[in-house]
Amino acid sequence: MRNVTEDTITGAVIARHAGAADARLRDLMTSLVQHLHAFARETRLTEAEWFAGIGFLTEVGHITDDKRQEFILLSDTLGLSMLVTAQNHRKPPGFTEATVFGPFFSESAPQIDPGGDVGQGATGEPCYVRGSVRDGAGAPVAGAEINVWQADADGRYDMQYTDLAAPRARGVLRSDADGRFHFKSIVAESYPIPHDGPVGRMLEALGRHPWRPAHLHFMIKANGHDSLITHVFRNGDKYLDSDAVFGVRQSLIQDWVRHEPGPAPDGSVSPVPFHTLDFDFVLSRG
Ligand code: BEZ
Ligand code: FE
Repeated sequence: MRNVTEDTITGAVIARHAGAADARLRDLMTSLVQHLHAFARETRLTEAEWFAGIGFLTEVGHITDDKRQEFILLSDTLGLSMLVTAQNHRKPPGFTEATVFGPFFSESAPQIDPGGDVGQGATGEPCYVRGSVRDGAGAPVAGAEINVWQADADGRYDMQYTDLAAPRARGVLRSDADGRFHFKSIVAESYPIPHDGPVGRMLEALGRHPWRPAHLHFMIKANGHDSLITHVFRNGDKYLDSDAVFGVRQSLIQDWVRHEPGPAPDGSVSPVPFHTLDFDFVLSRG
Protein backbone atom coordinates (compact mmCIF):
# COMPACT_ATOMS: atom_id res chain seq x y z
CA MET A 1 0.00 0.00 0.00
CA ARG A 2 1.33 3.41 -0.99
CA ASN A 3 0.35 6.97 -0.13
CA VAL A 4 -0.78 6.06 3.37
CA THR A 5 -2.38 9.12 4.96
CA GLU A 6 -3.09 10.13 8.52
CA ASP A 7 -6.59 8.78 7.97
CA THR A 8 -5.61 5.42 6.50
CA ILE A 9 -2.48 4.54 8.48
CA THR A 10 -4.27 2.76 11.33
CA GLY A 11 -6.03 0.37 8.97
CA ALA A 12 -2.82 -0.13 7.00
CA VAL A 13 -0.87 -1.24 10.07
CA ILE A 14 -3.65 -3.53 11.28
CA ALA A 15 -3.95 -5.15 7.85
CA ARG A 16 -0.30 -6.22 8.14
CA HIS A 17 -1.21 -8.33 11.20
CA ALA A 18 -3.39 -10.64 9.11
CA GLY A 19 -0.67 -13.27 8.82
CA ALA A 20 0.09 -13.52 12.55
CA ALA A 21 0.19 -17.18 13.60
CA ASP A 22 -0.93 -16.39 17.14
CA ALA A 23 -4.49 -15.00 17.10
CA ARG A 24 -4.26 -13.58 20.61
CA LEU A 25 -1.05 -11.74 19.78
CA ARG A 26 -2.72 -10.35 16.65
CA ASP A 27 -5.70 -9.11 18.68
CA LEU A 28 -3.52 -7.55 21.37
CA MET A 29 -1.31 -5.75 18.85
CA THR A 30 -4.28 -4.60 16.79
CA SER A 31 -5.93 -3.08 19.85
CA LEU A 32 -2.65 -1.53 20.96
CA VAL A 33 -2.13 0.13 17.57
CA GLN A 34 -5.72 1.42 17.57
CA HIS A 35 -5.32 2.96 21.03
CA LEU A 36 -1.86 4.40 20.33
CA HIS A 37 -3.05 6.04 17.14
CA ALA A 38 -6.19 7.34 18.85
CA PHE A 39 -3.98 8.82 21.58
CA ALA A 40 -1.78 10.59 19.01
CA ARG A 41 -4.82 11.95 17.18
CA GLU A 42 -6.71 13.02 20.30
CA THR A 43 -3.73 14.87 21.76
CA ARG A 44 -2.45 16.10 18.38
CA LEU A 45 0.92 14.74 19.49
CA THR A 46 3.83 16.88 18.28
CA GLU A 47 7.14 15.48 17.02
CA ALA A 48 8.95 16.98 20.01
CA GLU A 49 6.52 15.25 22.40
CA TRP A 50 6.83 11.94 20.54
CA PHE A 51 10.63 12.21 20.75
CA ALA A 52 10.46 13.06 24.48
CA GLY A 53 8.36 9.91 24.99
CA ILE A 54 10.91 7.79 23.13
CA GLY A 55 13.66 9.35 25.28
CA PHE A 56 11.73 8.57 28.45
CA LEU A 57 11.19 4.90 27.51
CA THR A 58 14.87 4.65 26.57
CA GLU A 59 15.83 5.87 30.07
CA VAL A 60 13.41 3.35 31.61
CA GLY A 61 15.20 0.63 29.68
CA HIS A 62 18.67 1.83 30.57
CA ILE A 63 18.07 1.87 34.33
CA THR A 64 16.41 -1.57 34.34
CA ASP A 65 18.52 -4.56 35.39
CA ASP A 66 18.06 -7.71 37.49
CA LYS A 67 17.72 -5.60 40.68
CA ARG A 68 15.82 -2.58 39.34
CA GLN A 69 12.66 -3.11 37.27
CA GLU A 70 11.70 0.38 36.13
CA PHE A 71 9.12 -0.93 33.63
CA ILE A 72 7.17 -2.52 36.49
CA LEU A 73 7.37 0.75 38.42
CA LEU A 74 6.01 2.52 35.35
CA SER A 75 3.17 0.02 35.01
CA ASP A 76 2.45 0.30 38.75
CA THR A 77 2.38 4.08 38.87
CA LEU A 78 0.18 4.30 35.77
CA GLY A 79 -2.34 1.99 37.46
CA LEU A 80 -1.89 -0.72 34.83
CA SER A 81 -0.59 -3.35 37.28
CA MET A 82 -3.53 -2.90 39.64
CA LEU A 83 -6.02 -2.92 36.74
CA VAL A 84 -4.61 -6.22 35.46
CA THR A 85 -4.58 -7.67 38.99
CA ALA A 86 -8.15 -6.57 39.68
CA GLN A 87 -9.63 -7.90 36.45
CA ASN A 88 -7.83 -11.24 36.79
CA HIS A 89 -8.68 -11.82 40.45
CA ARG A 90 -12.29 -10.79 40.94
CA LYS A 91 -13.38 -12.19 44.29
CA PRO A 92 -16.84 -12.56 45.79
CA PRO A 93 -17.21 -10.90 49.21
CA GLY A 94 -15.55 -12.88 51.96
CA PHE A 95 -12.49 -13.93 49.96
CA THR A 96 -9.19 -12.17 50.49
CA GLU A 97 -8.57 -9.65 47.74
CA ALA A 98 -5.40 -9.56 45.67
CA THR A 99 -3.20 -6.56 45.14
CA VAL A 100 -0.01 -5.63 43.27
CA PHE A 101 3.01 -7.94 43.37
CA GLY A 102 5.65 -5.20 43.30
CA PRO A 103 9.31 -5.62 42.36
CA PHE A 104 10.73 -6.80 45.71
CA PHE A 105 9.77 -10.48 45.87
CA SER A 106 12.73 -12.87 45.99
CA GLU A 107 12.87 -16.60 45.28
CA SER A 108 15.68 -16.96 47.80
CA ALA A 109 13.80 -16.20 51.01
CA PRO A 110 14.75 -18.45 53.95
CA GLN A 111 12.41 -21.09 55.39
CA ILE A 112 11.09 -19.91 58.77
CA ASP A 113 9.92 -22.26 61.53
CA PRO A 114 6.57 -21.57 63.22
CA GLY A 115 7.03 -18.53 65.47
CA GLY A 116 10.44 -17.84 63.91
CA ASP A 117 12.03 -14.49 63.21
CA VAL A 118 11.41 -13.17 59.70
CA GLY A 119 13.18 -9.88 60.48
CA GLN A 120 16.66 -11.43 60.78
CA GLY A 121 18.17 -8.20 62.09
CA ALA A 122 16.19 -5.72 59.98
CA THR A 123 15.59 -2.42 61.81
CA GLY A 124 12.20 -1.70 63.34
CA GLU A 125 10.09 -2.30 66.43
CA PRO A 126 9.16 -5.98 66.83
CA CYS A 127 5.85 -7.12 65.41
CA TYR A 128 4.18 -10.46 66.16
CA VAL A 129 2.02 -11.64 63.27
CA ARG A 130 -0.66 -14.30 63.70
CA GLY A 131 -3.21 -15.56 61.25
CA SER A 132 -4.89 -18.39 59.46
CA VAL A 133 -5.51 -19.66 55.96
CA ARG A 134 -9.04 -20.92 55.24
CA ASP A 135 -11.22 -21.79 52.29
CA GLY A 136 -14.54 -20.19 51.42
CA ALA A 137 -16.42 -22.62 53.66
CA GLY A 138 -14.23 -21.73 56.65
CA ALA A 139 -12.26 -24.99 56.57
CA PRO A 140 -8.58 -24.66 57.51
CA VAL A 141 -6.06 -24.93 54.69
CA ALA A 142 -3.17 -26.93 56.13
CA GLY A 143 0.33 -26.88 54.70
CA ALA A 144 -0.15 -23.70 52.67
CA GLU A 145 3.12 -22.10 51.59
CA ILE A 146 3.19 -18.55 52.95
CA ASN A 147 5.77 -16.15 51.56
CA VAL A 148 6.11 -12.86 53.44
CA TRP A 149 8.29 -9.86 52.65
CA GLN A 150 8.48 -6.28 53.82
CA ALA A 151 10.54 -3.11 54.06
CA ASP A 152 12.45 -2.16 57.23
CA ALA A 153 12.10 0.92 59.46
CA ASP A 154 14.01 2.96 56.86
CA GLY A 155 11.54 1.91 54.17
CA ARG A 156 14.00 -0.30 52.32
CA TYR A 157 13.84 -3.94 51.21
CA ASP A 158 16.92 -6.11 51.73
CA MET A 159 17.67 -6.13 47.99
CA GLN A 160 17.98 -2.33 48.07
CA TYR A 161 21.11 -2.69 50.22
CA THR A 162 24.40 -3.53 48.55
CA ASP A 163 26.16 -4.83 51.67
CA LEU A 164 23.86 -7.53 53.10
CA ALA A 165 25.25 -11.06 53.34
CA ALA A 166 21.84 -12.74 53.73
CA PRO A 167 18.15 -12.03 53.07
CA ARG A 168 16.31 -9.97 55.70
CA ALA A 169 12.67 -9.20 56.43
CA ARG A 170 11.42 -12.01 54.20
CA GLY A 171 10.68 -15.69 54.71
CA VAL A 172 8.64 -18.74 53.79
CA LEU A 173 6.38 -20.51 56.33
CA ARG A 174 3.73 -23.23 56.27
CA SER A 175 0.28 -23.15 57.83
CA ASP A 176 -0.25 -25.86 60.48
CA ALA A 177 -2.96 -28.55 60.61
CA ASP A 178 -5.49 -25.92 61.77
CA GLY A 179 -4.51 -23.58 58.95
CA ARG A 180 -2.78 -21.28 61.43
CA PHE A 181 0.62 -19.57 61.25
CA HIS A 182 2.59 -17.11 63.37
CA PHE A 183 5.92 -15.40 63.13
CA LYS A 184 7.90 -12.50 64.51
CA SER A 185 8.99 -9.63 62.30
CA ILE A 186 9.32 -5.87 62.47
CA VAL A 187 6.60 -3.29 62.11
CA ALA A 188 6.15 -2.06 58.54
CA GLU A 189 6.45 1.65 57.79
CA SER A 190 5.35 3.67 54.78
CA TYR A 191 8.07 4.13 52.17
CA PRO A 192 8.61 5.77 48.78
CA ILE A 193 8.95 3.51 45.76
CA PRO A 194 12.34 3.96 44.03
CA HIS A 195 12.07 7.48 42.62
CA ASP A 196 15.63 8.37 41.62
CA GLY A 197 15.01 7.37 38.00
CA PRO A 198 12.74 8.32 35.10
CA VAL A 199 9.56 7.13 36.84
CA GLY A 200 10.39 9.32 39.86
CA ARG A 201 10.91 12.30 37.55
CA MET A 202 7.61 11.52 35.85
CA LEU A 203 5.81 11.50 39.22
CA GLU A 204 7.41 14.80 40.20
CA ALA A 205 6.48 16.42 36.89
CA LEU A 206 2.89 15.29 37.46
CA GLY A 207 2.81 16.68 41.01
CA ARG A 208 2.54 13.15 42.44
CA HIS A 209 4.33 11.70 45.47
CA PRO A 210 6.07 8.29 45.40
CA TRP A 211 4.85 6.97 48.78
CA ARG A 212 3.19 3.66 49.61
CA PRO A 213 1.30 3.13 52.87
CA ALA A 214 2.91 0.67 55.31
CA HIS A 215 2.17 -2.94 54.38
CA LEU A 216 3.29 -6.53 54.69
CA HIS A 217 3.41 -8.60 51.49
CA PHE A 218 1.98 -12.12 51.36
CA MET A 219 1.99 -14.75 48.63
CA ILE A 220 0.02 -17.85 49.65
CA LYS A 221 -0.03 -21.08 47.64
CA ALA A 222 -1.97 -24.25 48.48
CA ASN A 223 -2.92 -27.27 46.38
CA GLY A 224 -6.42 -27.02 44.98
CA HIS A 225 -6.69 -23.28 45.68
CA ASP A 226 -5.98 -20.14 43.70
CA SER A 227 -2.66 -18.59 44.58
CA LEU A 228 -3.07 -15.31 46.40
CA ILE A 229 -0.73 -12.33 46.09
CA THR A 230 -1.71 -9.56 48.45
CA HIS A 231 -0.67 -7.18 51.24
CA VAL A 232 -1.98 -6.35 54.68
CA PHE A 233 -2.00 -2.56 55.13
CA ARG A 234 -1.47 -0.74 58.42
CA ASN A 235 -4.57 1.10 59.57
CA GLY A 236 -4.03 4.81 60.20
CA ASP A 237 -1.25 5.24 57.65
CA LYS A 238 -1.42 8.67 56.07
CA TYR A 239 -0.90 7.30 52.54
CA LEU A 240 -3.80 4.82 52.52
CA ASP A 241 -5.80 7.13 50.23
CA SER A 242 -2.95 8.12 47.93
CA ASP A 243 -0.89 4.95 47.42
CA ALA A 244 1.55 5.65 44.55
CA VAL A 245 0.56 2.34 42.92
CA PHE A 246 -3.20 2.28 43.70
CA GLY A 247 -2.99 -1.04 45.60
CA VAL A 248 -5.08 -0.33 48.72
CA ARG A 249 -8.30 -2.29 49.27
CA GLN A 250 -10.40 -1.53 52.33
CA SER A 251 -10.66 -5.25 53.17
CA LEU A 252 -6.86 -5.48 53.45
CA ILE A 253 -6.47 -2.72 56.06
CA GLN A 254 -5.89 -4.01 59.58
CA ASP A 255 -5.03 -2.55 63.00
CA TRP A 256 -1.42 -3.13 63.99
CA VAL A 257 -1.75 -2.86 67.77
CA ARG A 258 1.15 -1.20 69.62
CA HIS A 259 1.99 -2.51 73.09
CA GLU A 260 4.24 -1.01 75.77
CA PRO A 261 7.32 -3.04 76.86
CA GLY A 262 6.28 -6.18 78.71
CA PRO A 263 5.08 -9.75 78.11
CA ALA A 264 5.06 -10.57 74.38
CA PRO A 265 3.01 -13.23 72.52
CA ASP A 266 6.04 -15.56 72.23
CA GLY A 267 6.36 -15.81 76.02
CA SER A 268 9.34 -13.44 76.21
CA VAL A 269 9.35 -10.09 77.97
CA SER A 270 9.95 -7.38 75.40
CA PRO A 271 12.20 -4.59 76.68
CA VAL A 272 10.92 -2.34 73.87
CA PRO A 273 7.44 -1.48 72.59
CA PHE A 274 6.09 -4.08 70.19
CA HIS A 275 3.15 -4.56 67.83
CA THR A 276 0.71 -7.37 67.10
CA LEU A 277 -1.06 -8.02 63.83
CA ASP A 278 -3.81 -10.60 63.30
CA PHE A 279 -5.10 -11.40 59.83
CA ASP A 280 -7.06 -14.31 58.40
CA PHE A 281 -6.78 -15.19 54.70
CA VAL A 282 -9.58 -16.83 52.72
CA LEU A 283 -8.51 -18.58 49.50
CA SER A 284 -10.76 -19.06 46.49
CA ARG A 285 -10.86 -22.15 44.30
CA GLY A 286 -10.39 -22.19 40.55
C1 BEZ B 1 6.02 -2.85 46.85
O1 BEZ B 1 5.06 -2.80 47.58
O2 BEZ B 1 6.98 -3.51 47.24
C2 BEZ B 1 6.04 -2.06 45.59
C3 BEZ B 1 4.97 -2.14 44.74
C4 BEZ B 1 5.00 -1.40 43.57
C5 BEZ B 1 6.08 -0.61 43.27
C6 BEZ B 1 7.15 -0.53 44.15
C7 BEZ B 1 7.12 -1.26 45.32
FE1 FE C 1 6.09 -3.24 49.42
